[in-house]
Amino acid sequence: RNIYFEESVNSTQNIAQRLALEGAEEGTIVVAEEQLGGRGRLERKWQSPKYKGIWMSLILKPSIPIMKTPQLTLLTAVAVVQGIQEVTGVQADIKWPNDLLVNGKKLTGILTEMQADSDRVHSLIIGIGINVNQQLEDFAAELQPSATSIYLETKTSWDRAKIIQGIMMHLEKLYLLYLEKGFYPIKILWESYSISLGQKVTANTLNGSIVGFAKGITDDGVLLLEDEQGVIHSIYSADILM
Ligand code: BTN
Repeated sequence: RNIYFEESVNSTQNIAQRLALEGAEEGTIVVAEEQLGGRGRLERKWQSPKYKGIWMSLILKPSIPIMKTPQLTLLTAVAVVQGIQEVTGVQADIKWPNDLLVNGKKLTGILTEMQADSDRVHSLIIGIGINVNQQLEDFAAELQPSATSIYLETKTSWDRAKIIQGIMMHLEKLYLLYLEKGFYPIKILWESYSISLGQKVTANTLNGSIVGFAKGITDDGVLLLEDEQGVIHSIYSADILM
């Protein structure tokens, strides 16, 4: 496997994007000690302080139509939960689509970007940001109430390379399962780690807010919300408040 290791970058996503365009093979990862312009979902910034966390991007080249890309984001979330659990014992929950929380505080974010030809995926660039060794004061004041790290959950510093190894092992296993059996077995695992399902949530979408019960995810990874009138809404992208 190809591993690119960088001391300081703008965003590992940019490097992985370039490598994918240059023909990098599936499974290539880019890891950085620090990101100066780390990106989050919905145009947010992602704080990536030096040596404190895992800031990495993974290139996958599944032969799927664009509309199925959420499946791979959900698969990645499952692999990250399993890898973190195996190496550190921390059991994170998944909040749709791909935030990993511990006691309601954010431990990990996943950001998927893609390169596509017409309606087929050419490369997926899956960015994974994990708060590992931060102490509370390493987080910006406004994040302190809502963020956590593996250190804060275990009072122990962790070897980030071991955690990456654990995640990649689970990722490989799940990805092979996905290629062989499709999304269904992944969906079952995802649902078992999810805290969104069965809850009354508010989805803030670009077109406004919808309040409803999270009924499940579809085979494409879309969230289904049932509102008070019993109408089912398909949510492709939103911020979920629980
Ligand atoms: C989110 O929850 O909003 C997603 C955060 C994703 C952060 C990771 S860190 C590695 C990769 N490079 C980036 O610039 N972002 C992702």
